[in-house]
Amino acid sequence: MKTPRTDAYLALKADSEKVKRLSLRRLFDDAPKRAEQFSIQLEGIFFDYSKNHLTPETLELFTQFANACNLPEEIDSLFSGKHVNNTEDRPALHTALRHQGTATTAEQQAVTDTLKKMRLCVEKIHAYEWLGHSKKPIKTVINIGIGGSDLGPRMVTQALSAYQEWQGKVAFVANIDGADLSDVLFNTDPETTLFIAASKSFTTSETLANTLAAREWLINNGCPEAALTNHFIAITSNISAAQAMGISIENIFPMWDWVGGRYSLWSAIGLPIAIAIGMDNFNDLLSGANMMDEHYQNTPINNNMPAMAGLCEFWYNQFWGAQSHAILAYAQRLNRLPAYLQQLDMESLGKSVSRDGAAINYPTGAIIWGTEGSNGQHSFHQLLHQGKHVIPVDFILVNQAMSDLDQHHQHLQACCISQSQALLQGKTLTDAVKELEEQGMNQEDVSRLAPHKVVSGNKPSNTIILEQLDPRHLGALLAFYEHKVHTHSVLLDINPFDQWGVELGKQLSTPVFKALDQGKVDEKWDSSTKSLIAKLT
Ligand code: F6P
Repeated sequence: MKTPRTDAYLALKADSEKVKRLSLRRLFDDAPKRAEQFSIQLEGIFFDYSKNHLTPETLELFTQFANACNLPEEIDSLFSGKHVNNTEDRPALHTALRHQGTATTAEQQAVTDTLKKMRLCVEKIHAYEWLGHSKKPIKTVINIGIGGSDLGPRMVTQALSAYQEWQGKVAFVANIDGADLSDVLFNTDPETTLFIAASKSFTTSETLANTLAAREWLINNGCPEAALTNHFIAITSNISAAQAMGISIENIFPMWDWVGGRYSLWSAIGLPIAIAIGMDNFNDLLSGANMMDEHYQNTPINNNMPAMAGLCEFWYNQFWGAQSHAILAYAQRLNRLPAYLQQLDMESLGKSVSRDGAAINYPTGAIIWGTEGSNGQHSFHQLLHQGKHVIPVDFILVNQAMSDLDQHHQHLQACCISQSQALLQGKTLTDAVKELEEQGMNQEDVSRLAPHKVVSGNKPSNTIILEQLDPRHLGALLAFYEHKVHTHSVLLDINPFDQWGVELGKQLSTPVFKALDQGKVDEKWDSSTKSLIAKLT
């Protein structure tokens, strides 16, 4: 059935065939001001998307397609609390978590109240007035959570380590592998340790198992059961389950069903961040995200940073055969960013049916991967430069140095810029021959080696520059990626806020655990599962 959406999609598809005949080098040669035309500045965050296979006509078609998908209306629905999470019949109001100024909705009021409770908790810990069972002040906080109850807080706490305002230690445990908890507990003092049980559902098996093991550890190290409550905070929407675990109500921070796990670091799930960097810095993180929210909500598509990023992702996945997207942050403290964005993007867009449940016959979410620069250059950049894949890259760079080693910082920046330049311009056979001849190589060797030194170039990348790696700019960057995912979901016509796909593994895990525990398999199982279990029991 032809609709404005399909017409606009087909127009984009046709345009992609035209653009494929133009190299990136040609696009830059034809438009000396291209970099200026294809970039967006928003306060201290700069987005250069000029190194993409886009012409001014493509941008026009982007806007037409976005409008055919009702992106402006969908953005309004997101912010206004419509039940955009249609399969769970819920709003997705993570933007309410970072509202600024007076609360005007019930959600914003709940957020304001929770931020007050968080501040009291943080200030009590920072004043060393939160005492353990032996009346010693807390010096270690261990967050027990997984997925959205771990990845965001862990990544932000590390990214903002320069803003640490507490001399105590904030650590994270997520994995059901006992080594995770054991390694964190090693050399940790039970009398001065506070655990945060972070779980929206309070049913996640890894988190429950680790929380129970933490209780055991405290009791085995002299903590009376009655005093356990001095050592536990819970962050959850399942208050009764947390209380049943013996956590007192005053130590329970609320979460709400209108916040998805992977969108929750801005809520009380962010408590470990606030304990590490202080509530004022945490509020700066929120205000940076709010700045991006305002931009996303009020800016026309072709000057809208997240919208353009989402359209580019859609463009490469649909028409250029891209199946993955690399996140290369040239900042050591952002080395957990790819892991965080994997859940945000892949758990949101890794779907196969549209919002109304119809099977989808086009590509949906991409594989998100990456590592910190410049380390990746000595690992997988070979494939980026001479491999056969189309892999759009996000380079992320910080203007202000993150150490006192200024020369290091300039080298870091040079590495980042030159990598994106190399992806764009490559190295022709002529360049390679000339280079080898200038090295004095004989003609026979030049002919033999030159083809191996050719770099195709013509490979797409975005470059994002943050003025500094501080709470406000990090908040803006993370909200940028949340809204990029939202835009992409609208273009794909999928619900980015549910995650039904994770249930099957959890369902199958219970009988497999039982088989391992009792050495008894279900004969109906496949031979591989049965033989693997046999190998382990
Ligand atoms: O299994 C996936 C998931 O539900 C994620 O969406 C979520 O962030 C994570 O598990 C942890 O869930 P909870 O916070 O309820 O423990």
